[in-house]
Amino acid sequence: MTDSEGNLGDCTRIRMYPQVQIIDAPPHSIFFSPCNHRWVKVNADGRRILESFRNEQVLGEWFAKYVGNHGGDEIGTRLSQFISSQVKAGILQVDGFAPAVDWRSAIDPPNLQKVYLEVTDRCNLKCHYCYNAWNRQRSQKRQRRPMSEDDWYRLVEEIHTMGVLEIVITGGEPLLCGWVVKLARHIRQLGIKTTLLTNGTLLSSDLARQLVECFDRVNISLDSSVEEKHDFGRGKGSFRKVVEGVRALRQAGHRAIIVKPVLAQHNLEGFADLPRFVREELGCFLYTPTLCLPFRAPDGSINRSFTPELEDILQALGAFSANFSRYYPMSERPPIQIGPHVSCGLGKRIVSVDSHGDVFPCQALHDPDLVCGNWYDSSIQDIRNSSDLIKQLAELSILDVRTCGQCPWALLCSGGCRAFAFGIYHDLKAFNEDFCGVLLESARSRLVEFASRCETASITT
Ligand SMILES: C[S@@+](CC[C@H](N)C(=O)[O-])C[C@H]1O[C@@H](n2cnc3c(N)ncnc32)[C@H](O)[C@@H]1O
Ligand code: SF4
Ligand code: SF4
Repeated sequence: MTDSEGNLGDCTRIRMYPQVQIIDAPPHSIFFSPCNHRWVKVNADGRRILESFRNEQVLGEWFAKYVGNHGGDEIGTRLSQFISSQVKAGILQVDGFAPAVDWRSAIDPPNLQKVYLEVTDRCNLKCHYCYNAWNRQRSQKRQRRPMSEDDWYRLVEEIHTMGVLEIVITGGEPLLCGWVVKLARHIRQLGIKTTLLTNGTLLSSDLARQLVECFDRVNISLDSSVEEKHDFGRGKGSFRKVVEGVRALRQAGHRAIIVKPVLAQHNLEGFADLPRFVREELGCFLYTPTLCLPFRAPDGSINRSFTPELEDILQALGAFSANFSRYYPMSERPPIQIGPHVSCGLGKRIVSVDSHGDVFPCQALHDPDLVCGNWYDSSIQDIRNSSDLIKQLAELSILDVRTCGQCPWALLCSGGCRAFAFGIYHDLKAFNEDFCGVLLESARSRLVEFASRCETASITT
């Protein structure tokens, strides 16, 4: 029992929440409580104390046992403070009380925040694993005309009134459209953050100077520091061009160039060298790799031959992470978020509009079965209000995904990319069975990274 000020009494029953997960992060340990999405980082003494509450203890008896061993009032006071702090932190439970949190409504604001504009489906490259290849094929048979420059301006005005925070311009290869710079400048003048996704092969010095003025961030696709590996996936000569492109952008003074690699079967070897190459030879930031998604090939079949096996991924990512920490020390990395997330926001906080006006829940889900509506017929707002698919996605929660719903890591992991689940199982609610190991590892390391920036809740006895 606690007194009126919440102090713990001798009869208080205390135990660690049974769902608490412990992660080794030498010299510390992290205790993560999935019931309330709270965590603490403790030293070895703190860990011993917390572990002694795995089974329920009556506090007075616990003190008699432990403080009796250690002796002394000062120790007793510090232990009391530590135990109280762990109750407040949500790691220890008092008298069997467990919080009832409705995560779905608590953490998922439904307003639209980010819109992807696929300004063209044309591309100067033919990457073997491109998830848009099939869409390009489909375009040739479509009834709708491709969206014009004026159409994109009208669409931008419309989403501006919806309070969108960020517009990502992508393709195909967006730099094939000469007017992209002007459009991006306009978007930025409206106060919306602009991001460009490009393969980087068309970046002349002149164009690079223009991009500095109109894109807050430029994401460039580069898959390997080994020329043949990158070229194998993206086409001969592309490595040299993209490296020149990044250098041109650097020389023009762009400060937010981010290299975005795809980890696929063909670039596993040598992948770990990418952090060194991007930091030392290109001088820009590097994103966590995206796993190569199974994709719909031009003939309509699902191709997963570029997606590596779990063991290979874990090995490649392990070596990559070690080098990443070396070349991008924590102090230089932007802060990360660790959730809680019940969904990545597809269809809710994010939509993607393709070059023919079709609206999809995400830029990696341009599948004909996932068309929410067409902008030539209805505004984005009307599509959001009326599309059955968007309504279903608004309800989509990791807590409803098989296996993930019962997993203690769910709100940290989010069950991985839904495009992956869709690519493999053609089901947005499918459990990413093959990749659960990678996802769990990545959720844990995000927590370790996050915790390493914070103070330790420590006790020394
Ligand atoms: C479709 S591209 C369009 C922008 C530009 N052409 C480019 O390559 O950066 C957008 C992003 O999707 C990535 N991508 C393409 N196919 C993929 C796949 N099967 N799995 C994961 N990412 C993929 C590309 O590497 C790129 O970073
Ligand atoms: S450059 Fe981008 S859009 Fe073009 S084929 Fe490659 S991944 Fe696809
Ligand atoms: S993918 Fe695996 S680790 Fe992630 S929430 Fe689902 S079951 Fe848990």
